[in-house]
Parts: sequence; structure tokens; C-alpha cells
Amino acid sequence: MNTRFELAGPLTDIRSYPQWTQDMVADCDRVKRTVVEHELWDLMRSGALGADGTANFMVGIWPVIERFPGYMAQSLLKTRYGRSEGDNLARRWLVRNIRVEQNHAEYWLDWAEGAGVPRQQVLEGTPPYGTQALANWLEEISSRGSLAAGIAASNYAVEGATGEWSQIVYDSREYQGLFPQNTRKASLRWLQLHAAYDDTHPWEALEIVCTLLGASPRPEEVAHIGECIKRSYRSMCISMDSCYRGLRLQEEGASFQVVAAA
Ligand SMILES: [Fe+2]
Repeated sequence: MNTRFELAGPLTDIRSYPQWTQDMVADCDRVKRTVVEHELWDLMRSGALGADGTANFMVGIWPVIERFPGYMAQSLLKTRYGRSEGDNLARRWLVRNIRVEQNHAEYWLDWAEGAGVPRQQVLEGTPPYGTQALANWLEEISSRGSLAAGIAASNYAVEGATGEWSQIVYDSREYQGLFPQNTRKASLRWLQLHAAYDDTHPWEALEIVCTLLGASPRPEEVAHIGECIKRSYRSMCISMDSCYRGLRLQEEGASFQVVAAA
């Protein structure tokens, strides 16, 4: 059995974590950057994403937003109170945070509506080809992966990267200026809530993963968790690409066509 993991300092300082965690996070960072520095955010901030690209984004990412508490519920089903310290910590955290997700789907619909995509279109539209990459992966890992892998892939990787891109978009005066002042606050609520600032969620998720794995897990266990984290980032990237890449190809006269979110 692995030795017990304990934070050696503040939750939000990577140096508080064991060396294997620091190495794993550093190794994943290169892939994370492809999400956080994705071209989509620049297009969005400058208003250059356009009506089709915006609709593709809102409709294409919606399945993940709608399902996110479901992924956490699937993780919760894997816990058993009293089995281990990691199980206890995960159970307590998931029960509390599923509730926090309660209104986020509604806030996404508000954001979409403010950005010109009617809620009916988000609820009933067909996600553009390729945007399902992230939803499919999160469904797979949270239903069939280990508890640590599911939490690493969704609550650590996806929430962490989302915190960073949300902040990039939310901090943009140019982007905020695209929304009428009287509805701006409500429209941008989802972004504001997810913008990293002092969000500790991904760190708490990392602490849970470390507690589940212990202070000295087997190298293959660590490699697996790292792969799951990278796969989340890659799936995010594919989903983001699919929001507008097809549109560009279409503009350039290629035969590939995005399934219009209508
Ligand atoms: Fe959320």
C-alpha cells in the first residue's frame, strides 16, 4: 500500500505536492498551453468568431456543460466511505461540489443568448462534427476509469484549463463591450464564475488525486493519470478547433462542411 500523502504547504503551490506530481504537472503543461493559448479565444475576444463560429461553440460545448455534474456523480458512485482517506475526501468534495454546479448550465444558456445564440438552438441544435471529442472522453473516463483518473481528467484538467481560458476572455474589455450594458452582467456570469482568479477547485481535485494515489505511487499509475490529463487537454483542443476550423475550410472552398448548429 502506498504511503500517506500530505500537503507540504499551501494547497495552491505546486511545491507542496510530491515530486511525482510536480513532474507530471510540468509534463502536461505543454499540452495544456495548446488549450489556454488556443486561437479561438482571440477570435472570441475581438468579436471575429462570427455568428456561425459562436453558435458552433455554444452548441458544441453545451453537452459537456450540461453533463459536468453527471461526470462528478459517476465519480461519486465509485467512492466508498471508510475505504481510504482518498475515498472519504473525494466523497465529501464531490457531494458538496455537484451542488455548486447546479446553476452553471443555466448560466451557459444566458451567455449563449447574450452572444446571439437562442437557448432553443443550444438545447436542440446538433453539435458540430468534432466538438463531441471532449464530451465523449469525459463520459468514458468518468464511467469506466478509476476514481483518480476521472477526477484528474475532469475536475483537475478541464476545470483548470477552463479557469485560465475563461479569465482570458472575461478580462477582455473588448469582449465585454460586445454585450449591451443592461444584460452584460447576466450574460457573462458563467465566464466570471469560471475565470480562475482565486479558484481552488482544480487544486482541490489534484489534492484528491494525490491522496488516492498516496505519496509514492507506481510509475505506471502516475503515467496513466498524466495521460488522462493530457487526453482531456487534447480533447478540449479538438473540440475548440471544430468550432471554427470547418468554417474556415468552407470559406476557402474546401469540401469539408461543419454541421450547422441550427
Ligand atoms: Fe461549472
